[in-house]
Amino acid sequence: MRILTGIQSSGTLHIGNYFGAIKQMVDLQQDNDLFIFIANYHALTSLKDANALKQNTLDAAITYLSLGIDPNKTTMWVQSDVKEVLELYWVLSAYTPMGLLERAHSYKDKVAKGIAANHALFSYPVLMAADILLYDAQIVPVGKDQIQHVEITRDIAVKFNNEHGEIFTLPEFKVEENIQTVPGTDGAKMSKSYGNTIDLFTTKKQLKKQTGKIVTESVALEEPKEYENCNVYNLCKLFLTEDELLDLQQRYKRGGEGHGHFKLYLHEKIWDYFAQAREKREYYLAHEDEVMQILEEGAQKARKIAQEKIKIIRDAVGIYR
Ligand code: ADP
Ligand code: TRP
Repeated sequence: MRILTGIQSSGTLHIGNYFGAIKQMVDLQQDNDLFIFIANYHALTSLKDANALKQNTLDAAITYLSLGIDPNKTTMWVQSDVKEVLELYWVLSAYTPMGLLERAHSYKDKVAKGIAANHALFSYPVLMAADILLYDAQIVPVGKDQIQHVEITRDIAVKFNNEHGEIFTLPEFKVEENIQTVPGTDGAKMSKSYGNTIDLFTTKKQLKKQTGKIVTESVALEEPKEYENCNVYNLCKLFLTEDELLDLQQRYKRGGEGHGHFKLYLHEKIWDYFAQAREKREYYLAHEDEVMQILEEGAQKARKIAQEKIKIIRDAVGIYR
């Protein structure tokens, strides 16, 4: 299966992003033809600081490599390295009814939040359609907020195919239904916009501060404690083995330890869980040239596919030079 997804690099990632999205990618690369690109053209719709955009692009690549994306299995590149996507974006624009874009929730939400509406923000789904259709992606893993964009992609592809024959593969979106929502330090969904995150790559001290913020009930130290609805316990579930969890349940039931002890235990577990990723990250930060090389090789593979596809598309619409 060809599975493709674009990542928007928005800086600091949290453990919700890892368990909710990145881990699936790492698993999917084993038996699939996985394509991942860093959507830097899309990022332009919200980020106007050149240094930050450049830095975020590199940082996204380093983050995914550190967390287990294997460049020998996965094709990873930067969106702007394959210019054909912009040509397809224009061609598809001519097959995109205004109404389709006017109904896009993501656009309407952003405008409602007071973000100035510019044309790129409006036509964002068309560029996303180009990303997907250029590579004949079959499956597109996305977060729930992006489902509609994949549906718009299908609508555009159908319009084009009706006119010119079966040129585009119709993609399916894939949302991980069985992935539970990772709770934040206050028990609500972990999200960078709620300020309740536990970050993936941070110092041990800062991690301790974040785990220390987890909201728990106040029960005297010697009393037995409930583990079932405890935010600390729920987070522990992500990092502990079955046996360790059973053992932790006993510690809750036994009493004699406070939530502070369980938070420290969780802190150590998180720190150890990402030890290897942290090491890889340090390595790549010190070897930027290797990251560039990986992105270049990814771009070459992606470009080859894109160039063949764009020929067929140009031919179909009559752009011949
Ligand atoms: P945030 O809510 O912090 O802004 P994003 O919307 O950028 O996160 O999410 C990026 C990806 O991470 C999406 O695929 C989303 O489903 C996943 N994700 C984010 N937060 C969580 C969470 N608390 N639990 C599970 N998955 C999450
Ligand atoms: N819009 C996606 C997001 O915000 C990123 C993205 C851009 C994408 N192009 C894509 C995702 C193509 C899947 C396929 O997360």
